[in-house]
Amino acid sequence: MSNIHRPSPVIRPPSFFIREFDLAHDYEAVLALWRAAGPGIQVGPSDTQEEIAKKLTRDPDLFLVVEEAGEINGAVLGGFDGRRGMVYHLAVLPEQRGRGLGAALLTELESRFKAKGCLKSYLLVVPENPQVLDFYRKRGWGVMDVYVMGKEFRE
Ligand SMILES: CC(C)(COP(=O)(O)OP(=O)(O)OC[C@H]1O[C@@H](n2cnc3c(N)ncnc32)[C@H](O)[C@@H]1OP(=O)(O)O)[C@@H](O)C(=O)NCCC(=O)NCCS
Repeated sequence: MSNIHRPSPVIRPPSFFIREFDLAHDYEAVLALWRAAGPGIQVGPSDTQEEIAKKLTRDPDLFLVVEEAGEINGAVLGGFDGRRGMVYHLAVLPEQRGRGLGAALLTELESRFKAKGCLKSYLLVVPENPQVLDFYRKRGWGVMDVYVMGKEFRE
């Protein structure tokens, strides 16, 4: 029998935590994260600081960030209109992907939707980003057979 000492396995608690977005402190970091996210996140006129401030008057508890060692490594912007939930701009910094941060953000947002009585939620995947479909499928999301229509109200 070998008498080599084998240390017991170390179970490390997650080094990250999820908290609500803070406009004054987090806006620039989250905008940079979205801009670095690739074709899956299209930063647009609804993402200015003024527009985000407007959004936060409704659901401040559904805009979440994942923080680790003082850095924001991921974010998701959720909304609930009283009938459906919406998931916008889920993103993790490219160098931090594959460590469970994206899944943790989505799981936390889903549990907050459920706590509000939300029965169903939607999200949009742009055609340039089909590779993300499996991430959502693994978490119980399905592609719906609908046309998505939009209309701009900007002057
Ligand atoms: C989608 C995204 C947020 C996932 O974040 P992440 O932290 O890398 O994801 P996780 O580490 O939590 O991955 C969880 C699982 O999904 C898988 N996965 C993650 N991203 C994937 C992808 N793009 N394609 C396929 N599978 C993926 C992982 O392999 C992992 O599988 P497992 O549960 O079997 O281990 C991240 O890839 C990202 O920021 N992508 C760019 C922005 C984007 O496209 N957002 C979605 C807009 S709709």
